[in-house]
Amino acid sequence: MKNGLFVFAGLFAAMTLSWAGIVAGSKIQLGGLAPYYDEGQGQAFPEPMPGQAIRGDRVYRSLNCAACHTQQVRRPDLGTDQARGWGDRQSVARDYIYQSYVQLGQSRAGPDLANVGNRKPPYDAADLLNLLYSGQGAMPSYRFLFRERKIVGQVSSQALQLVGPLTPPNGYEVVPTPQAQALAAYLLSLNATYDYPEARPAPAGKGATRWPRPTMSGRVPQRSGTTRCWRSTKSCSGAGRRRRRVTGCCR
Ligand code: HEC
Repeated sequence: MKNGLFVFAGLFAAMTLSWAGIVAGSKIQLGGLAPYYDEGQGQAFPEPMPGQAIRGDRVYRSLNCAACHTQQVRRPDLGTDQARGWGDRQSVARDYIYQSYVQLGQSRAGPDLANVGNRKPPYDAADLLNLLYSGQGAMPSYRFLFRERKIVGQVSSQALQLVGPLTPPNGYEVVPTPQAQALAAYLLSLNATYDYPEARPAPAGKGATRWPRPTMSGRVPQRSGTTRCWRSTKSCSGAGRRRRRVTGCCR
């Protein structure tokens, strides 16, 4: 081919540019996103997932629950998610910083699960285990995550409370496997309710201020004079930090 080198260079440039835009660009923009430290509450958000929930995250992934469930609440102007009770605010990048595989989901055959641990009325582990065992409407049942076994001595405190045709035969009980328990713990840990500055709706209308950007340092955007500073302006002490002469913000 006469123009082989030319075609190769063109393809290489196209791949490099898309990689730079999609992978490197997102990494530069969001890769350093830190937890947000709330000085009033003396705590950082989001909170790391408890160990059992991390194991449940793997079960969720291996069963591909994301085929039918999303974990992303949209803004009111982009959908009815909040009106359906799936969350009080939109999801933001900071919600996912502790997740090694973000489960945004492929379709919405079932409800969004970004806040399933904070439904009203709230679920407890037993409700979720019952749902996983029995299924509901288009939600499949995951009976292989449970064991039916003979009752030896007393009924186990973990035995499901089943009714109707699902009731096990006399003398038998249905108990969750460790995978089912981890999955329930994971679902209960999905509770992205902390109100980050970047999750608040942008004020509408003319002369509105810009949408707050996530701060890499995890601090509240502060105003100093007329400039918006992305770090606290209280003290500019510390390694390499000095006050800028013009804006009054810290370097
Ligand atoms: C084939 C699609 C499908 C798959 C796969 C699926 N679900 Fe569902 N799920 C649904 C539907 C539909 C509902 C709503 C059921 C209803 O209320 O009638 C639902 C409801 C739920 C609810 C209750 C949500 C709420 O807001 O009350 C939870 C929790 C849930 N699913 C968890 C899971 C988990 C965990 C998995 C993977 C092990 C999973 N689902 C796999 C379709 C699915």
